[in-house]
Amino acid sequence: MAKRIQFARTGGPEVLELVDVTPAEPAPGEVRVRNQAVGLNFIDIYFRTGLYPAPSLPSGLGTEGAGVVEAVGEGVTHLKAGDRVAYAQGPLGAYAEQHVLPAGKVVVLPEGIDVETAAASMLKGLTVQYLLRQTRELKGGETILWHAAAGGVGSIACQWAKALGVKLIGTVSSPEKAALAEKNGAWATIDYTKEDVVERVRELTNGAMCDVVYDSVGKDTWETSLDCLKPRSLMVSFGNASGAVEGVNIGILNQKGSLFVTRPSLNGYADTRERLEWMAGELFEMLQSGKVTVDIAQRYPLAEAGKAQEALQGRQTTGSTILLP
Ligand SMILES: NC(=O)c1ccc[n+]([C@@H]2O[C@H](COP(=O)([O-])OP(=O)(O)OC[C@H]3O[C@@H](n4cnc5c(N)ncnc54)[C@H](OP(=O)(O)O)[C@@H]3O)[C@@H](O)[C@H]2O)c1
Repeated sequence: MAKRIQFARTGGPEVLELVDVTPAEPAPGEVRVRNQAVGLNFIDIYFRTGLYPAPSLPSGLGTEGAGVVEAVGEGVTHLKAGDRVAYAQGPLGAYAEQHVLPAGKVVVLPEGIDVETAAASMLKGLTVQYLLRQTRELKGGETILWHAAAGGVGSIACQWAKALGVKLIGTVSSPEKAALAEKNGAWATIDYTKEDVVERVRELTNGAMCDVVYDSVGKDTWETSLDCLKPRSLMVSFGNASGAVEGVNIGILNQKGSLFVTRPSLNGYADTRERLEWMAGELFEMLQSGKVTVDIAQRYPLAEAGKAQEALQGRQTTGSTILLP
């Protein structure tokens, strides 16, 4: 038997329960991973609350983890039992001691990257890879606005942007979070609880505004974000921490300066084995070179996944959070 977190109905953290299950044997093309660390992500909360529907209930939760391959299904050639691996995609169910998933979604960890770092950075780091290197390929010299700059994705973004020579202006809700974002390489920070974000961006950029805005807060920040952009520049809406952006009149993109907008996801970018390997390769290079370090600021036992989610949702966390099976 193995332990896993599951939920039979959507709702608050109380719907998460720790249960015993018999781990499945991997089908052809699948592997079973014994998780040593599991990543906590905001998307897990969207599934728990029902903002994103789970394919069926009861459902497992989580898509990010790292550990050791335990069993390999027929036809799998790039993995064998005993390999140290990580993953950030695939079926819900990473909040577990053991997880069965398509081998194509699993990458081997290179030397020097430990499983905790991998579980704390696969989903968040691959996200930063596609946001900074693909939604628009930043070359250096650009000015960007990044909401939640002291969070899990934000902490990696501050460091990666700095390495690319990009000026990242980060929004945060406290002086402690501002200090953390700046330590990670943010060029400037704005405490949105005290300062007017648009006015501060105008001051910081001498009126030029931003080349790209990365907004994972959603509903509360949509219009502010559009107001921080240069004419004909790009709005990247990639999350819903405050709720989903709804009912948008497309004419607003004209009014705010002939803007472009995209609503991307990791699965839309890491959609082939080749693309996943290329993206993971870039992330591992950033980690191995020390240009990006992952701050695991919170660790919880797997059984306390609900408590961990409560802290993430309540803006009490910084950097990455992992669950330990
Ligand atoms: N599309 C994709 O491919 C993709 C992939 C990964 C993550 N994401 C998104 O990226 C975001 C960050 O994910 P994460 O796991 O790293 O979380 P996180 O940034 O560590 O935590 C969320 C942060 O958002 C800020 N926030 C602002 N308004 C909030 C609200 N109403 N409720 C809660 N938090 C609020 C808080 O920072 P302050 O206190 O500083 O405001 C909070 O700490 C999430 O929206 C997630 O869905 C998207």
